[in-house]
Amino acid sequence: MIPETDHLPHSRDYVFSPAIRVFHWLRALAIIILVITGFYIAWPFMMPYGGSDNLQQGWFRFAHLIFGFVLCGITLARFYLYFFSKSDVERRSWQDVMNINSWITQLKSYVWMGKLHKKGVYGPLQYMTYLATTGVIVVMCVTGIALHANVYHDGFAELMMPFAEWVIVCFGGLAPVREIHHFLTWVFVIFFFVHVYMAIWSGIRFRHNSVDSIISGYDYHPIKNKKDH
Ligand code: HEM
Repeated sequence: MIPETDHLPHSRDYVFSPAIRVFHWLRALAIIILVITGFYIAWPFMMPYGGSDNLQQGWFRFAHLIFGFVLCGITLARFYLYFFSKSDVERRSWQDVMNINSWITQLKSYVWMGKLHKKGVYGPLQYMTYLATTGVIVVMCVTGIALHANVYHDGFAELMMPFAEWVIVCFGGLAPVREIHHFLTWVFVIFFFVHVYMAIWSGIRFRHNSVDSIISGYDYHPIKNKKDH
């Protein structure tokens, strides 16, 4: 059965700025490359192609560092955008997180009981999942920089050494820093599958632009319920 809202005129609403969209896809690329190269650094299972003159492990580490610093840069930029961007679609979602009824509404809507009403662009559970993942990204950046300072000892790594020493004390040694950096990689593997599934599922379930909005920047809402999206 076609829901009645499908027959209503829809408004085209601007949700994600170009900066948010570009950072989303750049961060996705960085994380995919970091997971692949990171696991390879931990378990370098391939023989160097063309003999030992090819510093294969070195190239994997090089790519890991480049995208590691890309991720650090995006994380800082996204912090700034969250608090100071002109659009408050992300900040507004906090009102839902602090409202118990919004939690109940969202959880019920996930099992097909009622509609999802939200003030910002994310539902409360979605918001908390992103917040927790951001926390894991920060830990990856901090532990990654600490590892970097201990692998290379010049330039930026040298500059970061006092910070790295402090991180090592906090984690109880360099080995635990490496272990945490390794184990938390699985968070991104799990997040990737759940995130892609939920993005496609919520677009179908709530009949709106979901995956498309992080490409085009626009979402569609039935005009009658415009305030409720
Ligand atoms: C999503 C983010 C990241 C993931 C999934 C990731 C994953 C990994 C993994 C699995 C390892 C191997 C650990 C082991 O030896 O068992 C590793 C090593 C390492 N990572 Fe990351 N990492 C991330 C971010 C970063 C960042 C932001 C930096 C620094 C800017 C960084 C720097 C390093 C360094 C220096 C090593 C050690 C390389 C070596 O032993 O030569 N990583 N990473």
